[in-house]
Amino acid sequence: MPKTLRKNSGKNSRFSFDEYYGAVFGGRWPGLKEALQRPPRPSAFGEGLLCPYYLDRASVFAARALGETGSCRVLDMCAAPGGKTLVLASTLGQGGEIVANERSSQRRKRLKTVLDAHLAPALRSCVAVTGHNAAVWGLHEKNAYDRVLLDAPCSSERHLVLQPRYLAAWSPSRSRSLARQAYAMLLAALDAAKPGGLLLYSTCALLEAENDEVIRRALERRPGAFTPIAPLCAEKAATLSLSLEKTRFGSLILPDTSDGAGPLYFALLRVG
Ligand SMILES: C[S@@+](CC[C@H](N)C(=O)[O-])C[C@H]1O[C@@H](n2cnc3c(N)ncnc32)[C@H](O)[C@@H]1O
Repeated sequence: MPKTLRKNSGKNSRFSFDEYYGAVFGGRWPGLKEALQRPPRPSAFGEGLLCPYYLDRASVFAARALGETGSCRVLDMCAAPGGKTLVLASTLGQGGEIVANERSSQRRKRLKTVLDAHLAPALRSCVAVTGHNAAVWGLHEKNAYDRVLLDAPCSSERHLVLQPRYLAAWSPSRSRSLARQAYAMLLAALDAAKPGGLLLYSTCALLEAENDEVIRRALERRPGAFTPIAPLCAEKAATLSLSLEKTRFGSLILPDTSDGAGPLYFALLRVG
């Protein structure tokens, strides 16, 4: 599995983006980079919706790892533009509810538009939109949700390689700073979940620092507070042309081996 480079990888690192990822992924990098540069091919997700929403197959798969939402109380901590919220809403049943949170007001507006356009009024009324800082959620609400999705803001290398402006501004310290933010959010997500509840941590980042390492640090900080478990839908991956690469605590879906889907890292955690 890819490792994050540590030596000489500070803000003024001599590593270029390609050197850095080349060192992490070795001979796989040129093909992986080429797969990242291909235009994304979102697929239609329409189950239980008024009209299809287009998103990456890997995102649908990861959101489904939380299982059917049914009568659960669900928190989607970083929800905009709302693709995974729709997947979670599609299995919501009697008594179930979702809190879809997004801190950016602009992106929250987009989230509301997506929810309004895709959910029938009765289902829409079960989805509340909030605008809190996910990193401090646990200060206000603890032990409150049966299911928590933390789809953390991350390096999103697919967007980086497609946008020269962002690529030019890249440095290894950016990934480390996003990892610190994701770690704070994960601790807050653990607080928000009920004992016995499920928490899905996901990113679209390639580096271990933003993926397994965030889980490892949380385990170190809170030993026994949660247990990584196998995703509920793992056996379905192959039928969707998704190759799940097992990591220490979760799974990685990468576009060079999953017919263009991903990148997507996800880890399913049983809380308590
Ligand atoms: C990876 S995107 C979420 C994608 C979304 N789950 C989906 O499937 O469409 C991460 C989101 O987190 C939001 N965000 C960043 N920092 C946040 C914070 N501190 N609290 C809540 N949301 C935040 C970003 O604005 C962004 O919309």
